[in-house]
Amino acid sequence: MATTKNKKTKKSELKLKKNSITAPKGKLGVLLPGMSGAVSTTFVAGVEAIKAGLGKPIGSLTQMGTIRIGKRTDKNSPYIKDFIPLADLDDLVFAGWDIFPDNCYEAAIKSGVLDKNLLDELKGDLEEISPMTAVFSRKYVKNLNGKHLKKGKTKMDLAEQLIEDIKRFKKESGIDRLVMVWCGSTEVFIQASKVHSTIKSFEEGMKNNHAAIAPSMIYAYAAIKCGVPYANGAPNLSADIPALNKLAKQKKVPISGKDFKTGQTLMKTILAPGLKSRMIGVNGWFSTNILGNRDGEVLDDPYSFKTKEQSKLSVLEYIFQPDLYPDLYSDYYHKVRINYYPPRGDAKEAWDNIDIFGWLNYPMQIKVNFLCRDSILAAPIVLDLAIFLDLAGRAGLHGIQEWLSFYFKSPMHGENLYPEHDVFIQLMKLKNTLRYLQGEDLITHLGLDYYDFA
Ligand SMILES: NC(=O)c1ccc[n+]([C@@H]2O[C@H](COP(=O)([O-])OP(=O)(O)OC[C@H]3O[C@@H](n4cnc5c(N)ncnc54)[C@H](O)[C@@H]3O)[C@@H](O)[C@H]2O)c1
Repeated sequence: MATTKNKKTKKSELKLKKNSITAPKGKLGVLLPGMSGAVSTTFVAGVEAIKAGLGKPIGSLTQMGTIRIGKRTDKNSPYIKDFIPLADLDDLVFAGWDIFPDNCYEAAIKSGVLDKNLLDELKGDLEEISPMTAVFSRKYVKNLNGKHLKKGKTKMDLAEQLIEDIKRFKKESGIDRLVMVWCGSTEVFIQASKVHSTIKSFEEGMKNNHAAIAPSMIYAYAAIKCGVPYANGAPNLSADIPALNKLAKQKKVPISGKDFKTGQTLMKTILAPGLKSRMIGVNGWFSTNILGNRDGEVLDDPYSFKTKEQSKLSVLEYIFQPDLYPDLYSDYYHKVRINYYPPRGDAKEAWDNIDIFGWLNYPMQIKVNFLCRDSILAAPIVLDLAIFLDLAGRAGLHGIQEWLSFYFKSPMHGENLYPEHDVFIQLMKLKNTLRYLQGEDLITHLGLDYYDFA
């Protein structure tokens, strides 16, 4: 009897009051630090192309995904966008910052991801979008040098200028809500330290130009201060520090990150859970790739590469759980290489050699050769993050949004939790969060109730 009662209490606790999500009325401003980059321009031009009926939003869960509601026998699987109130593509308005002044059309042409013919059809709209001056220092991205920069005596001055930019953009474009997605370059490796520990120490640090406060942290600070949900698409810490976590909770702002999960790491988090699910052992996983875009050039610097390497390496460790499966994963060798190779541009080629072993330790091998397009895979992630972060804000969620781990290589997570890297668990978590927000039953996939045990 007691058990049934407990069960009931738990179930109702998991239900949010239906309709507690405010409607997505008006325009949603999407702020992009790194606006002239390959990912940003592919995202913005892509959304414009889709709005004009020139292409489909392939890769976007918010636009193409469905969600099952109720039992399998109910046959009720609406589109996610019909199930829960999301911002419409027609309501998205773009703004951002970059160290280069090119407008979105010029920058998209230089990035070389989308065909010139397609960009020419969108030229009018894209030329109207130009980046604001950036907060930047070469100390944090050594291989870039731009002149379209803000000036300020302290990092706090610079943060205040970003806050002014955000307020001005909101006022001038008459938008209702904002989100920010960091699409700027990968910064040098910085470890969280004392200056990042509290809001006070962080603000003091900004006033004193502390070296461990990178530009991406200043953008994140400005966003959170303005109540703007923030996502970080690069592996640098940015909002993933206790001070900004606390500020996000205090200001009731959703935050998420880090490092868009595309290409090689996406493949890793698809393959590794499959191998583990069948108790197949792994001796080694060697990943290398060539890419020739500006991101590749930035990552050619060992300090920026170190930030990326940490992000890419952590994935397998958490999926394989060697402490739980010492016979299978305690001794595997994992190597990740990124090689800057200009002729390939954004069309990356990735190779994985996986040494595995099965029954009685007999060895086998898997080879993966992925000819991917980095920004084509990243653009729908930016779209989904913008739309889901806006949803989180309207639903009253704040702080770290673990349900958005699906999109990241190094998902931000609670202090005493390990990150969830398995892409299938991440998707289940995401969809169950949507069901939860709409007051629907969560799906456990138990399914015993379909069978008659009488
Ligand atoms: N494309 C992918 O598949 C993928 C996957 C995971 C992560 N990422 C990350 O996403 C980010 C963007 O990738 P990309 O291919 O567009 O790179 P990119 O080099 O084409 O674009 C980055 C842009 O950021 C700008 N920038 C750098 N520092 C800035 C600052 N402080 N303020 C404003 N602008 C700044 C640069 O000038 C550049 O235009 C990178 O950090 C990359 O590592 C990309």
